[in-house]
Parts: sequence; structure tokens; C-alpha cells
Amino acid sequence: MVQEKANAILEALNSATATNQEELEQFRIQYISKRSVIGALMGEMRNIPNEEKKAFGVTINNLKQTAQTKFKALIDGLENNNAESKAAIDLTLPPLEDAPGSTHPITAIRQQITQIFERLGFNLSEGPEIEDDWHNFTALNFPPNHPAREMQDTFFIQQDKEPEKAIDELALRTHTSSVQVRVMEDSEPPIRTLSIGRVFRNEAISARAHCIFHQVEGLYVDKNVSFLDLKQTVYHFVKELFGKDTKIRFRPSYFPFTEPSAEIDISCNICKGKGCNICKHTGWVEIAGSGMVDPNVLKNCGIDPEAYTGFAFGMGLERITMLKYQVNDLRLFTENDVRFLKQFKTL
Ligand code: DAH
Repeated sequence: MVQEKANAILEALNSATATNQEELEQFRIQYISKRSVIGALMGEMRNIPNEEKKAFGVTINNLKQTAQTKFKALIDGLENNNAESKAAIDLTLPPLEDAPGSTHPITAIRQQITQIFERLGFNLSEGPEIEDDWHNFTALNFPPNHPAREMQDTFFIQQDKEPEKAIDELALRTHTSSVQVRVMEDSEPPIRTLSIGRVFRNEAISARAHCIFHQVEGLYVDKNVSFLDLKQTVYHFVKELFGKDTKIRFRPSYFPFTEPSAEIDISCNICKGKGCNICKHTGWVEIAGSGMVDPNVLKNCGIDPEAYTGFAFGMGLERITMLKYQVNDLRLFTENDVRFLKQFKTL
């Protein structure tokens, strides 16, 4: 009988709550004070047979202890609640800044470039960032052990240490030209495609170089594609992105996968051609490599070089973004300092 009463009290105790001072006080009266239900139960001691008195005493003590612990917990809970609700309505705090994120400048330029080329009928392609030797080098006319491979400091993913098997090695792609190969292998001309993505080179990080950056690769393969088409496409692109007054020049160059090859310079967007640190006082900055797709590359990718010709170009997205937004340190793009990022608009 008394045990049942004790159990009922324990249950009620455990499920008790207090959301304000009154409820806390009620709890105190009901379970802690002299007139508490536990006190009343203790009064029944005299009706208990002697041999059961000890066990009854233990039950009562447990109840008292539980009530004390619960009382403390209710006080703590109430204090926390108060602190929270006070903080929530602190009218002295300044209003929160309206701070939506902004578009990362690399993303913004990526979108602008994509839109310009989409209007010329280019679609978008993608390829893997971990690439095999064939797509990154061999198909692009870099013969095994050819010194041209040294032009790009490659991060190899060590697979096989035997040099004769190096050809099977995987690497982080050093350029997006690897996507050219994949597109030509998988589709028939006419091909007009743009591929934008991350590339990796084993370079020390500085204001002008990074081991991870982005490239934009363009490829156009069809009947009778000529160097003139390359020039017109580049002229159109540069004037759309940098403005009508921008000057463009092609300089003869060498890439294993294009013949002839050219590097493309534009008049410095920062000093407007007068000469500054960015253009090393020449008035010109290099923005891309380009050329006519080498017949060997077409053949490697299953396209008949007698029937088709093509042009390709590759440019660094960071370089273009630096020129467009006059950013002078490459590291700003990856440090994610909000003081830098919030200077750009949300697209
Ligand atoms: N893949 C070259 C690089 O990373 C850039 C390049 C040059 C791409 C000429 C091309 C090209 O498509 O035709 O340095």
C-alpha cells in the first residue's frame, strides 16, 4: 500500500515540469516543503510493522533525494530559458546586416563565357579530373617520354612504379584539352563544344600561380574549318567580354596538339595598354593558347583528317577573371575572405 503510494509519487515527480516561477513554487510545496506529499507519506511510518520500517525509510530517502535533484534541474531549466528568451528580445542590439552571399567572381566569369559561346552554337562538355595518360597526353600528340610533357608539372597518381608501364598511369588532369579527346572519341563532327573545369599542376602557390586553377577549352571540328574561323571566334569572344576597344594579337607558338599554334594576347585591361605591373609594362597580356587541331590528334580520336579540320583554344579562367575585375593576387580566389567576396554582385 505505502509502496504503491511511493511509486505514484516517484512517477509524478519525474514527469513534473516548471515553465515559470509559480509552477516551480508549486513543485517545491508539493515535493520539498514540510507539508509535501513525501512528508505525508513519512507520517505513515508509525503504521508500518517494525521489520519493514528500515526498507520504508530507504524508499522515503530516495524520494527526497529525487525530489531535490529534480528541483535543481527545474531551476536550471528555468534560468536557461530566461536567458534565451532575454537574448531573443534584446532590443538594444543593432539590427542584423542583410547579408546574402555574392556570386564568386570565377563563377560569374564562367557564366559569362558560357553564354557568349552558347550564342555561337557551342555546347558544354565535361570530363574527369582524374585522367589517364591517353586522354591527357598521348592522344594529344605528346609521345611517351617526349620533353613536351615537361611543359606541365603533373601530379601523378602513383599506380605502377615500372617505367615501361608509365603509360597506364593516372594523373590529375593538367589541362582541359583532355576533354577534347573524349568529345571527339564519342561524337561525329560537326563538333562545337566548350569545356570548363579544374586543372592541377605541381606549382608553388604565389600571387601569379596556383596548383589548382580553371581552364576553358574550346573545340570546333567540321568540314573546311580554317584559321580564319578561329580568329573570328576569338575576336567576337574578347570584344563581348572585355569591350569593343580591346585589341587582340596572335603570336606564333608551339603546342603538340595544334599545328599551326598561336598564343593570344589582348591589350591590358588594367592600364588600357599604357603599361603596368600586370602586363609587365608591355601593354599586352596573354590570355590563351590556340591553333588548328593537329591531324594526328584527329586521327587518334577516330576523326578523318582528310575530311575534317578543326580549331581549338585553351585559356585560364583565373587570368581572365583577374583582368576583368582587376584582381592582382590569384590566392584571393581560394581564400574565401568575405571582405573580398562581398565586393561582387549576386547573379
Ligand atoms: N592545353 C594548353 C595548356 O594548358 C592550352 C591550349 C593551347 C589549349 C592550345 C588548346 C590549344 O586547345 O589549342 O597550356
